[in-house]
Amino acid sequence: MTKLAVCGLGLLGRPIAARLVEAGHDVTVWNRTPEKADPLVELGARRAETPEEAAAGAEVVVTVLSTPEVLDRVVLGPQGLAAGMGRGSTLVEMSTIGPDAVQALAPRLPEGVELVDAPVLGSVPQATEGTLKVFVGGSAEQFERLRPLLEVLGTPRHIGPLGSGAAMKLTVNSTLGPLMAALGEALALADAFGLDQGAVMDVLADSALGVTTKGKRGRIESGVFEPNFRLDMAHKDSVLITEAAARRGVDLPVARAVRDVLAAAERQGYGDQDYSAVIAHIRGAGTTR
Ligand SMILES: NC(=O)c1ccc[n+]([C@@H]2O[C@H](COP(=O)([O-])OP(=O)(O)OC[C@H]3O[C@@H](n4cnc5c(N)ncnc54)[C@H](OP(=O)(O)O)[C@@H]3O)[C@@H](O)[C@H]2O)c1
Repeated sequence: MTKLAVCGLGLLGRPIAARLVEAGHDVTVWNRTPEKADPLVELGARRAETPEEAAAGAEVVVTVLSTPEVLDRVVLGPQGLAAGMGRGSTLVEMSTIGPDAVQALAPRLPEGVELVDAPVLGSVPQATEGTLKVFVGGSAEQFERLRPLLEVLGTPRHIGPLGSGAAMKLTVNSTLGPLMAALGEALALADAFGLDQGAVMDVLADSALGVTTKGKRGRIESGVFEPNFRLDMAHKDSVLITEAAARRGVDLPVARAVRDVLAAAERQGYGDQDYSAVIAHIRGAGTTR
């Protein structure tokens, strides 16, 4: 049993915290909106009033927060995690924030506090079932020490030194936005041709876009984009991807275009819906009605 703190109980953080509680760990939780901790407290977690309180005495602190800025505030701000974490404890950063934010955070942590990046591939269902892919950046020794804990959540893979897990996460996520936007444009084209949506979905489900089509078909057909992965988070990722690439002298024109489409969808009010709502935005934006 490990003494753990989990900070950030959004769509992804909640099932992660629940699995850690159910695996028998001693878990303290903190979330900005405290009510989101209620189901975890019912499962047996302790509720902390501040990140500092959550971190006090924890061997491992897990963060699942929205953006690099939010992570900075929760770790280094007033009553932040850094104030509560003791020597020998480890911060396991599971949000999608990119390698540059991870590298920037490491030297600002108190002496003796270790940082490991461990962002995940998979969404709410995979987090609930414990089948996430966990990309770990850190030393081989840190990876082996954390492996049993991370196996509660899915399949951990040691990618390389600090920041490389976050880099792998941006790499894999750089494919998600373009795939969803491609599906949206295919459907907009089919609309323009007047094709039957059911037939189009059947055909696309057997195409190179099969996984994306099958995964989102229910939402597309119902028009109800209940979030597993929010569109504002997908937009945040596309900004992280294009900025990280630009800093390294790499231009990604498709990623830039997708970033702008996601930004426009967010401005239209789709930010708190599933990121597949970009399809509704593209189909709407493509009509002359
Ligand atoms: N959902 C997925 O499928 C998925 C998959 C892989 C990676 N991720 C990544 O995991 C991270 C969390 O995603 P999510 O889907 O769980 O997002 P979410 O549901 O929007 O949750 C975001 C979390 O950040 C907290 N937060 C936001 N602004 C804050 C602030 N100013 N101060 C303190 N806390 C704040 C939220 O607190 P409140 O509850 O108070 O708003 C919540 O705990 C993101 O980096 C995302 O890209 C998500």
